[in-house]
Amino acid sequence: MAGDGVRRRDFINIAAVSFAGVGGLAALYPLISQMAPSADVLAESSTEIDISAISPGQAIKAVWRKQPVFIRNLTPEEIKAADAVDVSTLRDPETLEKRTTAGKTNWLITMGVCTHLGCVPLGAGEGEVKGEFGGYFCPCHGSVYDTAARIRKGPAPKNLEVPPHEFSSDTVVKIG
Ligand code: FES
Repeated sequence: MAGDGVRRRDFINIAAVSFAGVGGLAALYPLISQMAPSADVLAESSTEIDISAISPGQAIKAVWRKQPVFIRNLTPEEIKAADAVDVSTLRDPETLEKRTTAGKTNWLITMGVCTHLGCVPLGAGEGEVKGEFGGYFCPCHGSVYDTAARIRKGPAPKNLEVPPHEFSSDTVVKIG
């Protein structure tokens, strides 16, 4: 798993560098300007992502509003596993269908932010631990999410948040 650790660190470093970049830029402006969203923040109020290269069973990590987003192409088995769950037994009851776009149930798009204390769960990177429910696993305190990114075990109170998104085409999704 050493390689996976490097991948995750790289991702966190990229996020940290871009955050530092915004901080540095904001410091150049007078205080009054900092009260309005800066141009680069406005530009990132939505982001378009090419999803054409994500095969079923794969996921990518994107960044939206300085936070990680997981874009996952679910396999038919993962969809079946999510649909087989009795929603009334869930801590945060939601169907996969409610969390995805009609006709595109395979595209599960969630924030990559654990709803416990905000760590980045594992499971989107190739070879990363997905946890016993096949979705995501948060290494900080052991929250486990299923293939619909719904909380199933551990301290997190809510499912991974689904950000506002829409499909610009079959291969491009706009987040925000
Ligand atoms: S931050 Fe994920 S389990 Fe605590």
